[in-house]
Amino acid sequence: MAGLLDEIEPLKQSALAGLKAAPDLAALEQAKGNWIGPNGRFTALMKQLGTLPKEEKPAAGRAINAAKSELETALAERRSELELAAAQPKEPTDFSAPGRRRTLGKLHPLAQLTEDIVRSFRKIGFVVADGPEIEDEYHCFDALNTPADHPARDTQDTFYLANNEPNISPSPGGEGGATAPGEGRGRETLLLRTHTSSVQIRVMEQMKKAGKEPPIRIIVPGRVYRRDNADATHNPTFQQIEGLYVDKNVTVGDLKGTVEFVFKEVLGEETKIRFRPHYFSYTEPSFEIDFSNALVKKLGKDWLEIAGCGMVHPAVFEEVGYDPEIWTGWAFGFGIERIAMLRYGINDIRLFYENDLRFLRQF
Ligand code: DAH
Repeated sequence: MAGLLDEIEPLKQSALAGLKAAPDLAALEQAKGNWIGPNGRFTALMKQLGTLPKEEKPAAGRAINAAKSELETALAERRSELELAAAQPKEPTDFSAPGRRRTLGKLHPLAQLTEDIVRSFRKIGFVVADGPEIEDEYHCFDALNTPADHPARDTQDTFYLANNEPNISPSPGGEGGATAPGEGRGRETLLLRTHTSSVQIRVMEQMKKAGKEPPIRIIVPGRVYRRDNADATHNPTFQQIEGLYVDKNVTVGDLKGTVEFVFKEVLGEETKIRFRPHYFSYTEPSFEIDFSNALVKKLGKDWLEIAGCGMVHPAVFEEVGYDPEIWTGWAFGFGIERIAMLRYGINDIRLFYENDLRFLRQF
C-alpha cells in the first residue's frame, strides 16, 4: 500500500494549481469544494488512511496533514488576493481629474433679495425687528386706525383662526364702533397677519414699556397672509418689508430720500421713483411709490407700483402713547415677490413657494 503515500504529492500539486488559478471568489469556492470540501478529491484520499496497515499510518497521516495545511494556507492567500482585487476600482485613478462639485444648499431667491434690502437699510442705521405671524385683530387693524368696517378685515381677505369672531361689523348707527381708539378691543381675536404693519405697533409698545424714547429706525421683513386664490400673481402667503422711522421733525423729504437710496441700491443706480397720493388709515398724508428702470421698460411700462408709505397718523401715535405734538415719523411697506420676479425674470409667483429644486438651483 505504498501507493497512497505516493499519491499525496501529485494530488497536492494539482490542488494547489487549481486554487491558485481560480480567477474570482466564486471559482475559488468551487475549487475548494473540488479539492478539500467534504466531497473533494483530497478529502477522499484522507478517508483512505484507515485502510492502511498500522505501520504505514503515522507517516501517511503526517504527510496528509502537512499537505492539507499547505492547501488551506494557499486557499486563504488566494482568497485575500481576490478580495483585494474585487475592492479595487475598475478604472485606474486619474489624479489629474477635476474634483467633483458638492451641491451646497443656497438661500432661496426671496431670502437673497431680502438680505440685499436689509443690508441697504443697515447702512443708514436701521435695525431688523419682527413680530408674530399669528396676530390679534388689535395690532393688525385697530391700533393702525383701521375701522371695524374696513374691507381689509373681511373674512374674504383675512384668515381668522378657528373659534374667533371677527370684529368686522360696526355697531348700529356707526357710533361707538367696536374699535374705538384706546379700547383695545380685538385683542382676543386671532388672525394671520395681513401685513407687517402690525409690527410698527408692537415695536412702539415695547419701546414705551421699556421707557425708551425714539428715535426708532426699524425694518421688518416677514411673511404675511391673505385669502387670495393662487394664480400667476397672487399667493395666499407672501413676504413684505415694513419700515418705520420715528423721531422729532421727520419729514416726507426724509422718507423720499430713504426710499430712493434703497431702491437705487437694490434695483440699480438708474432707477427712478415717484410718489402718488393715496390713502392708508395709518398714515397721513399717504402715498404709493412707483419706480421706473430698464426692467420696468422691458415690461412695456413706464412705472410700476411697488410700495405704500406715508407720515405716521397721529391716531397711531396716540394709540401707543406717543404725543403726536412731539413725535413725527414715516412708515412704508411693500411686497418683495414682485421685485424678485422682475429681477430674476420670473412670470409666476407660485414658483417661489413650490420648492421645486429645478427652479431653486438656478439662483
Ligand atoms: N400695509 C400696507 C399693505 O400691506 C403697506 C403699507 C402702506 C405699509 C403704507 C405702511 C404704510 O407702513 O405707511 O399694503
